[in-house]
Amino acid sequence: MMKNYAIVLAAGKGTRMKTELPKCAFPILKKPMIDYIVENIEASIVDETVVVVGHQKEVLIDILKDRVEYAHQDIQRGTGHAVMVTRELLEKKRGTTIIMLGDMPLINDKIINKVMSYHKDRKNDLTVLTTKFDNPKGYGRIIRDENGIIESIVEHNDCTNEQKAINEVNTGIYVVNNSLLFKEIDKIEMNERKGEYYLTDIVQLMRNEYKVGTFVLWDSYKVMGVNDLFSISIAEKHLREEINKVHMLNGVSIINPETVTIGHNVQIESNVTIYPNTYITGNSVIKYGSKVGPNTEVHHSIIHEDVVVKHSLVFDSEINSGSTVGPFAHLRNGVVIGKNNRIGNFVEVKNSTTGEGTKASHLAYIGDAKTGSNVNFGCGSITVNYDGINKHQTIIGDGVFIGCNTNLVAPVEIGDRVFIAAGSTVTKNVPSGALAIARNRQINKADYAKNLIRPKDDQ
Ligand code: UD1
Ligand code: MG
Repeated sequence: MMKNYAIVLAAGKGTRMKTELPKCAFPILKKPMIDYIVENIEASIVDETVVVVGHQKEVLIDILKDRVEYAHQDIQRGTGHAVMVTRELLEKKRGTTIIMLGDMPLINDKIINKVMSYHKDRKNDLTVLTTKFDNPKGYGRIIRDENGIIESIVEHNDCTNEQKAINEVNTGIYVVNNSLLFKEIDKIEMNERKGEYYLTDIVQLMRNEYKVGTFVLWDSYKVMGVNDLFSISIAEKHLREEINKVHMLNGVSIINPETVTIGHNVQIESNVTIYPNTYITGNSVIKYGSKVGPNTEVHHSIIHEDVVVKHSLVFDSEINSGSTVGPFAHLRNGVVIGKNNRIGNFVEVKNSTTGEGTKASHLAYIGDAKTGSNVNFGCGSITVNYDGINKHQTIIGDGVFIGCNTNLVAPVEIGDRVFIAAGSTVTKNVPSGALAIARNRQINKADYAKNLIRPKDDQ
């Protein structure tokens, strides 16, 4: 059966990045570059994908898991060689193959579909996707013959001065008849200067015997190659602008959008307002009517309707409708805040749930706790969840009033409608309805203060 295949080259180290992480795993808006490419391939007409891995391959495999097949290029001998190592997986298959580089995060499924259809409509054997850059430095240049037909691709460093002036470049995307690819690929010879096999040489190899054409893409930034951290910042800027625009057109108000970063997989409903200096990333969802920011980070979290989050951090958590969080609150992970809660200034919550109408308005730590509805955490209340070795749980019923500066030493269970006196250190369970006082009784010593407070002159 005729199918569509994709080969993604991602075995290189990314030397110019000067980073520990392999280049194609490097994140843009907190998502690895390779993930963007594979996601768009998945959305396209491609049926099967082979990713070529090599340098630190376990990092890439850990990101993509079994979404793709892997070909292993244990020593990186260039882009041509990277395609050669897919032979075993693809050689016998019939159909059309798109070859892409793992360092083009802005590519989208529409471009993939368009160039593959163009290739078939034209009955080409090889189609090279090209574009034009005002500053083509670093890219391979497209050399055309007197009839305008592509003749070869010359790498920037191999260009004559005259060739360097050409601004039409190789994007690194090629569509090719799959059987022909494996018939021709091994004919690529090693480039003497770099000691590598250049995939770009396939053009010269095939042009005499086969139909070789180009598809020129005008949106050049979508196929930019990322080779260093500066180009990462450019790619990120493009992506940010693109994503923010889509949200704004969908009815999300973004104040000062240049300062707002929204990840690729974030969903935001209409009538949401995002204030400046806000990051929303991962698979986050922000529902109707909520206000997020300024100065807020939300990662992998769900924010339900009419929630207000300001000057705060929300990670791997869920906030139910009508609640307010911040300023300066930190929902660290695994938190589910109930409806109409108030989580206020300098409150940290971790791995805990709260019922409806609960309040921790100032200076509290709630960790490993299950809290009922309408609980009031007084200023400075703490769930003492860690004994130095293990973490323990605190369970709090409904309608509990926790006085200021209370320590709830876990494991501990507080019943419903309990009142805990301010300053208590609670180490035992408290039954429903009780008043718990766990602190020393106050002693007032008459006239004693004068022994402790002396006028300054006496000293
Ligand atoms: C490549 C092209 C250049 C094109 C540019 C577009 C070649 C020789 N050059 O240059 O014409 O204009 O992309 O961005 O093809 N890789 C492997 N194995 C290897 C070498 C590289 O898998 O042995 C992978 C890398 O991980 C990377 C991709 O191939 O994802 C491209 O390699 P890179 O070094 O970035 O090529 P460029 O110099 O950008
Ligand atoms: Mg590159």
